[in-house]
Amino acid sequence: MEETPAIEAQSLSKHFGAVTAVDKLNLSVPLHAIYGFLGPNGSGKSTTIRMLCGLLTPSSGKAQVLGLQVPGEAEALKRRIGYMTQRFSLYEDLTLTENLMFMARIYCLPGKQRTALVAEALHAYDLDELGRRLAGTLSGGQKQRLALAAATLHGPELLLLDEPTSAVDPQSRREFWEKLFQLVDRGTTILVSTHYMDEAERCHRLAILDRGVLVADGEPQALMAALDAAVVEVDTPESRRARPLLRDAPEVLSVAQLGRRLRVLVKRADGEPAAYVRELLDHNGIAGSAEVTHTSLEDVFVTHTQRRRDAST
Ligand SMILES: Nc1ncnc2c1ncn2[C@@H]1O[C@H](COP(=O)(O)OP(=O)(O)OP(=O)(O)O)[C@@H](O)[C@H]1O
Ligand SMILES: [Mg+2]
Repeated sequence: MEETPAIEAQSLSKHFGAVTAVDKLNLSVPLHAIYGFLGPNGSGKSTTIRMLCGLLTPSSGKAQVLGLQVPGEAEALKRRIGYMTQRFSLYEDLTLTENLMFMARIYCLPGKQRTALVAEALHAYDLDELGRRLAGTLSGGQKQRLALAAATLHGPELLLLDEPTSAVDPQSRREFWEKLFQLVDRGTTILVSTHYMDEAERCHRLAILDRGVLVADGEPQALMAALDAAVVEVDTPESRRARPLLRDAPEVLSVAQLGRRLRVLVKRADGEPAAYVRELLDHNGIAGSAEVTHTSLEDVFVTHTQRRRDAST
């Protein structure tokens, strides 16, 4: 028998006045894996996460988290999940130990165990030396590790992390993700929102949201394989002239500059994408080469979000 997913949502929606923040979202998040939420600003990632935690009541639709209905059974869910908000939400004027002791009380962890659990958490997140420091004096990476320590103090089965690494350097991000994989190895399920493509690529599965709508989901590799657009790399000394010209071409979804090269995303509808780009360049007397190159997750992201933009204009 297949395991019940950690999270299931059916036609989940949230309206704020005239704004539809989340639009009939269907979601299935498997157990013991990292599930990513990728989407532009305002695409409904935080709103969805807050509904799944039981902090926000959906306008319509249903969701089950760890087999419990939200928001109806949110109280019972509280002890089984950990939630890290998008902004640092611990007390800057308390020490690390004080912050964690406070969280231990909120989670109603037995008094006798609290000191030991807090010491363990500080150790697990490489914060042993900093127990007496005020949280407000930590670096961005240390703050995020403290927030993760706080969110996992009670050993939750499911972690909901809202852009946990947004103010963190690449090395610290990598270390943070090592911690996430360790948690998954121990059986935790993680839902994490991100703007970083490298992080999205590390997820077992991924959902791409755009203006509240789920526009694609699946394994990162499968999403890349299924992309019906090709990437053509243009190498030209006249990139400045080529750029607007390519951007305005009907089959072109986006143009990104990388040094003197242009990365051109072309719809795969018909014909040969490289030949199409070469013809555009030739026609306008621009010298340079155009070759198809491999696609990345960013191309998947741009294609799915761009297509909806085209459709609505
Ligand atoms: N409490 C609220 N009241 C009114 N509108 C809201 C509220 N919360 C969110 N919204 C709106 O809902 C939409 C989705 O917002 P949400 O914060 O979920 O997006 P997001 O994907 O998390 O964005 P970001 O990447 O910037 O964090 C936005 O248009 C936002 O302005
Ligand atoms: Mg957000």
